[in-house]
Amino acid sequence: MLSNSEMISYRPPSNHLFGRIILITGAGSGIGKAAAFCCAQAGAKVILAGRTTETLEATYSLIVENNYQEPSIYPLDLEGASTSDYELLSESIANQFGRLDGLLQNASILGQRTPLTYYSPELWDKVMQINVTSQFKMTQCLISVLEKSSDASVIYTSSGVGRIGRAYWGAYAVSKFAIEGMAQVWASEIDGLGSIRMNVINPGATKTQMRADAFPAEDPESLKKPLEIMPVYMYLLGPDSSGVNGQSIDAQLPNK
Ligand SMILES: NC(=O)c1ccc[n+]([C@@H]2O[C@H](COP(=O)([O-])OP(=O)(O)OC[C@H]3O[C@@H](n4cnc5c(N)ncnc54)[C@H](OP(=O)(O)O)[C@@H]3O)[C@@H](O)[C@H]2O)c1
Repeated sequence: MLSNSEMISYRPPSNHLFGRIILITGAGSGIGKAAAFCCAQAGAKVILAGRTTETLEATYSLIVENNYQEPSIYPLDLEGASTSDYELLSESIANQFGRLDGLLQNASILGQRTPLTYYSPELWDKVMQINVTSQFKMTQCLISVLEKSSDASVIYTSSGVGRIGRAYWGAYAVSKFAIEGMAQVWASEIDGLGSIRMNVINPGATKTQMRADAFPAEDPESLKKPLEIMPVYMYLLGPDSSGVNGQSIDAQLPNK
């Protein structure tokens, strides 16, 4: 296994994801869009999942315009989706591709930046539903197609506030602690049993809409762009990280 700083400077061989089927949630914007582009560039067949069809179509067009393998679009609202929707997704992947080699659980929402004392209970439920519960249910339903892969990589998305609690980050921070915990439990249960591995990435400060919403006064040009943080994602989704399981990894060096 590479060290975290080696992962950050990882340069994948060309076509290193060739033939892999990779599902990415929140693939219409920000980090998910960059990951979809890089996976397609590396030869993967990408399934673009997300809430807003127009932005998924924009990611689709970007990939096709570059003559990479045509992706699939799978509209999915993680707030309203139930177990049966995830079972349908799993069946659809089984029927079309026979297996799933990569799952990037990237979509989430920020919620309110407000003290917990005043946090909206309704918004709390929504954040937990999208950022945690949906990801548990989706992964659970996709285990059967992940098991069909000889090297399946599942990545969850955390945050710095999912490791150290900080004031006013509310349900978002709690949801990211939950993701770190769920990944550890799952990774521990599957360790050494088969070909699935599960890890967590903390993207670090990255120039996206969510970051702008969280830090409206920040100069966005001071931040890494989503494409610049992709080496860790490419490493974890590809064969070079085979056997790496249960790790919580930074996509950027600290204070970058
Ligand atoms: N950017 C940072 O600095 C940073 C730092 C630490 C962690 N992260 C994490 O990185 C991940 C990607 O965030 P980002 O920065 O790229 O922000 P982003 O551009 O706002 O992306 C969030 C994505 O989640 C999707 N999403 C939200 N609610 C959804 C729902 N109900 N159903 C399906 N999809 C839904 C959004 O789709 P719509 O466009 O349709 O809303 C969007 O594509 C998140 O998990 C975030 O917590 C980001």
